[in-house]
Amino acid sequence: MGLVNVNEMMANALKGHYAVGAFNINNLEWTKAILETAEELKSPVILEVSEGANKYMTGYKTVAAMVKAMVESMGITVPVALHLDHGTYEGAKACIEAGYTSVMFDGSHLPFDENIEKTKEIVKLAHSKGVSVEAEVGAIGGEEDGVKGRGEVANPKECKIISDLGIDMLAAGIGNIHGPYPANWQGLDFDTLAEIKKTVGDKPLVLHGGTGIPEDQVKKAISLGVCKVNVNTECQQYFTQATRKYFEAGKDLEKKGYDPRNVLKPGFLGIKEIVKIKMEMFGSVGKAN
Ligand code: 13P
Repeated sequence: MGLVNVNEMMANALKGHYAVGAFNINNLEWTKAILETAEELKSPVILEVSEGANKYMTGYKTVAAMVKAMVESMGITVPVALHLDHGTYEGAKACIEAGYTSVMFDGSHLPFDENIEKTKEIVKLAHSKGVSVEAEVGAIGGEEDGVKGRGEVANPKECKIISDLGIDMLAAGIGNIHGPYPANWQGLDFDTLAEIKKTVGDKPLVLHGGTGIPEDQVKKAISLGVCKVNVNTECQQYFTQATRKYFEAGKDLEKKGYDPRNVLKPGFLGIKEIVKIKMEMFGSVGKAN
């Protein structure tokens, strides 16, 4: 199966009361680890890429070409979407051109009217090419690739207005934060989530900042309409911890331990481990159709 937009996987997740994991990728190893795990677990998956990671990998076209080719070469049969994470207006347009199957336009930091206007334009352009769109209301806290959130909790009335623009998924701040959660974190705001759900009906909701949210809160959020959970930091942590152990054990000094394919293997396996944990937690295992 080639790359798909998120529409069918979101509809199935909503109906089946589970969520699809959206994992950020940084390079070939990251992509391979996530695709391999999704295929083994028969889970739909969303590979998402920040603008910073796109730049790191030399651009949208490179990423789209790499992911498409890997899905084909690896014989992946589960649904895979390639999604722009926290896109700017220009970035979203460039990804639609480059062959991404889904984009997030993040206008949450803009004046609300401008967020509405730009979201509308991206929806029109994206849908003319079969590309799905995620929009955001209320910045998500923490910092990601230089994008700073203010830890807002979204206004359900604004959620309804953005949701009605024809978007396919809505990201709404409910006290979630990118990166590790501080010790004094108050937890997710379920009252707001329930109210948002009431106003937007069947619109699939997205939970950003999936790293470190306790399992019971993740499951409760899914029961209240979250269909996509974003995870980035935890994959980085698992990758880095496993890589550190490799060097601490002096493995790079044994035989061909200096070969980059050997150096990157523990980190690759680390990503697979955490992606499996998350897919099981989100309930998407065995849901690929
Ligand atoms: P974490 O880095 O906290 O997992 O958040 C990822 C995310 O929300 C990407 O948009």
